[in-house]
Amino acid sequence: MTTTAQQALEALESRVQACTACRLAETRTTVVFGDGTVDASVMFIGEGPGFHEDQQGVPFVGAAGQLLNRLLDEVGLDRSDVYIANVVKCRPPGNRDPRPDEIEACKGYLAEQLRLVDPKVVVTLGNFASKLLLKTTTGITRLRGQTYPWWGRTVVPTFHPAAALRSGDRVLDQMREDFSIMKQVLETSTEPKPADEPEQLGLFG
Ligand code: URA
Ligand code: SF4
Repeated sequence: MTTTAQQALEALESRVQACTACRLAETRTTVVFGDGTVDASVMFIGEGPGFHEDQQGVPFVGAAGQLLNRLLDEVGLDRSDVYIANVVKCRPPGNRDPRPDEIEACKGYLAEQLRLVDPKVVVTLGNFASKLLLKTTTGITRLRGQTYPWWGRTVVPTFHPAAALRSGDRVLDQMREDFSIMKQVLETSTEPKPADEPEQLGLFG
């Protein structure tokens, strides 16, 4: 029997549900693996679960998630069209930033999700996801507003929706610009990807 990407993603989720590779395992309520279809052509990557996500086991269900849903709706997409994951799968206590060793411990799961979902476009939400994928220390304010080629795919960095909730309309308008960039890339036909999958050898290496 050949394993489909869907089955492989489910098997990965079972492993992550039992993960104790970093200290966040001690304080989490649930592991928040990811949400959406393995067939998605766009994948969103946030930072880590907040309070509501930790309670429900689903990413982006709190206030930031409501805003994400609204921005998706404005470009004609629905949560069921996309895949959503986070840099760390367990909630940092009190919503503190994830620490470098926690990101290091968890990032292999994200790499595997990216390989299995194999999206055409990856939208990184905020500094943690953007810096991790683009291997940069440049902040999101300077990274956003443009596209980055990434292993035969396209990364579109934008602000985290929580930043728009804190900072208001200017940030929200820039997120709208970035979502429109994402939509354009999705609608553009691209060359086939190279046959080899370099990310299997170390996506964030
Ligand atoms: N913020 C994130 O970065 N991820 C979530 O899942 C929810 C809020
Ligand atoms: Fe494992 Fe990631 Fe949760 Fe840490 S944050 S326990 S590495 S799943």
